[in-house]
Amino acid sequence: MNTNRLDEVRRRHARAEEGGGTERQTRQHAEGKLSARERIALLLDEGTFEELDKLVRHRCYNFGMEENVVDGDGFVTGHGLIHGRQVFVFAQDFTVFGGSLSEANAQKIVKIMDLALKTGAPIIGLNDSGGARIQEGVVSLAGYADIFLRNTLASGVIPQISAIMGPCAGGAVYSPALTDFVFMVNGTSHMFVTGPDVIKTVTHEDVTKENLGGAVTHNSTSGVAQFLAADDEDCLRSIRELMRFLPQNNLDGVPRMPAKDPEGRADPELDSLIPLESNKPYDMKDVITRVVDDGYFFEVAEHFARNIVVGFARMAGEAIGIVANQPTHLAGCLDINSSTKGARFVRFCDAFQIPILTFEDVPGFLPGTAQEFGGIIRHGAKLLYAFAEATVPKITVITRKAYGGAYCVMGSKHLRTDVNFAYPTAEIAVMGPEGAVNILYRRELQGTSDSDALREAKVSEYREHFANPFVAAERGYIDDVIEPHETRAKVIRALRILANKTDTMPRKKHGNIPL
Ligand code: HXC
Repeated sequence: MNTNRLDEVRRRHARAEEGGGTERQTRQHAEGKLSARERIALLLDEGTFEELDKLVRHRCYNFGMEENVVDGDGFVTGHGLIHGRQVFVFAQDFTVFGGSLSEANAQKIVKIMDLALKTGAPIIGLNDSGGARIQEGVVSLAGYADIFLRNTLASGVIPQISAIMGPCAGGAVYSPALTDFVFMVNGTSHMFVTGPDVIKTVTHEDVTKENLGGAVTHNSTSGVAQFLAADDEDCLRSIRELMRFLPQNNLDGVPRMPAKDPEGRADPELDSLIPLESNKPYDMKDVITRVVDDGYFFEVAEHFARNIVVGFARMAGEAIGIVANQPTHLAGCLDINSSTKGARFVRFCDAFQIPILTFEDVPGFLPGTAQEFGGIIRHGAKLLYAFAEATVPKITVITRKAYGGAYCVMGSKHLRTDVNFAYPTAEIAVMGPEGAVNILYRRELQGTSDSDALREAKVSEYREHFANPFVAAERGYIDDVIEPHETRAKVIRALRILANKTDTMPRKKHGNIPL
């Protein structure tokens, strides 16, 4: 072995591992952030990381950059295992030129994205960057566009996960935005297209970067991020947990875990969980956790549009996606945000062959000018479209209200849902009894001295006729009215019969979902 050459290899590897040097690494830690390499080590199964392109260098000869070269050029890229399954990963090292994207390190990302796509493995990006490398100009912008293209081509083929663990600003936000799930770390991560200073100049608004683009803002207000982590460790742990529910790619099939929870387990508490008073709230998550394996529900986008609940769970060991109205928030009404949240989740499940279980208790779409002016027609159509186009196994359980257009939207039989159940407490009608009576008997109610008694009589007549599951069941829109305690056994049996389901779409390039 040529010892000089070997020394050179070792020196360069060591130089790459130093990143931006001790001082900058200390600053990184002082800010509560782990280094790029520490993050990858925590994300992957121990000792499985294989680095690629550790010796890549930037090709910039402006602004004294020729003197300033770090092997690897700041980005750490490669592959490893999570729960024994192959993933590709990149981490931006903020200590090297602020984690900025250069021509060279963009090509490193492009290389692993191409490999991930060709080998059918998920890709995870750990972002901590000041954006385009200013010294490189347009070649850096070109690098972003190369990545955006691959994000788009990989969409629906391999799961793509982004963690924002530092700054992510300007056009750089659009790579995470194109991926399936965005994690943010509370207090240390920020995402915005234009920062507080530009906003102040253009619109004269005063806003802090935390309020503008912090983890809480994007998890609860904008819906850009779906996971809010307390710190780096929590973020990386949560990504590993999410990975348990995701297939490797769109053809791989859902991951299976050995199930200990008995398939026929009946839960008597479910029989009294739905209040008899139809406007009394209850927590739909109590229904979900009583039905799924081991009561374990991994919620997605927990803090955004809380009137709809989405997330992953397992039934008899197999991963499923759950979409559920939440009566504790806005009475479970569908609005703009819940429609887009639900639609995106349904489409993710459909793209990756994950069966969808829907729990429905929805009084309708949220009324109001804010909703109408904001385009509830356009946004509500997204959820309708997503449910209708989904060809994965679909099962719906109506726990209580299924009113109006929302009945059609939330996985109704008419949208190719395979198995539809309703609880005896279900009310399936064009609208609630009070609203219907006000419209149907307006004149009579105005013309009588005892309008309360008349209203009460008409409401109970309406309820008797329509606010029950039987009219729908008599027509086969509901396959069966089941007792709540038997939900788990019924859903597992339905999933079994649907295991080999195939369904088709008319030939087309792609549909035109109302965006
Ligand atoms: C080159 C950069 C850099 C960049 C930071 N650095 N951003 N180098 N290109 N974009 C370097 C700094 O010079 C510094 O180098 C080190 O990284 C750390 O930066 P600091 O400013 O000291 O850190 P901090 O105070 O924590 O501030 C972080 C920051 C700030 C908020 C990210 O650096 C910043 O505002 N950077 C510019 C952000 C930006 O406008 N980027 C372009 C966005 S537009 P030394 O040697 O001192 O350690 C964009 C277009 C993408 O990205 C288009 C895609 C379509």
